[in-house]
Amino acid sequence: MSTLHPELARILLSEADIQARVNELAAAISSAYAPDDHLYLVGILKGAFIFLADLARRITLPHTVDFMAVSSYGKGARSGEVRLVMDVREPIEGKHVIIVEDIVDSGQTLSYLYKTLASRGPASLRTCTFVRKERDNLEVPVHYLGFNIPDVWVVGYGLDYADKHRTLPYIAELKPEVYQQKV
Ligand code: IMP
Ligand code: MG
Repeated sequence: MSTLHPELARILLSEADIQARVNELAAAISSAYAPDDHLYLVGILKGAFIFLADLARRITLPHTVDFMAVSSYGKGARSGEVRLVMDVREPIEGKHVIIVEDIVDSGQTLSYLYKTLASRGPASLRTCTFVRKERDNLEVPVHYLGFNIPDVWVVGYGLDYADKHRTLPYIAELKPEVYQQKV
């Protein structure tokens, strides 16, 4: 194995772990709807684009892929206020919508997206997030979850720190000194 980038502390989820779990999530989603239901998959930019690409290609139901973007607070820091930057391209009324997110931390982003899309009258609305930092007070439902992870800053598989490390095939913990010096 090649050596880890000096900003990274350790690998939390290997490429094999990730790919196996994405297969399971895609199978669970594919069997949870009627066979002729058409899914409307909404990936949240930027972080979810890699997860969504892998997940969507393994979902056996017919589906449409779309995206939303929300503002993130600062460069690498945790989110405060959530603002819609880019909306989906079609009305979602009457559609089976799944919000596909990379990570849930405080839950503010997902909760904002859930409320926003729920108010538009979809036939169903579910959420699928690849990783979730373990917390007691999450108020938004997570219907499909890849992994629970510890409360550390993670990068890779779509997740970044100031746009770095996003395309690593695994999820790694960023060394605390890297983000603590800038936040
Ligand atoms: P929230 O606190 O659940 O609203 O999470 C907000 C956003 O912060 C997520 O969608 C990510 O973009 C980002 N984020 C939170 N934790 C991490 C992390 O460990 N690595 C990379 N991005 C993160
Ligand atoms: Mg995100």
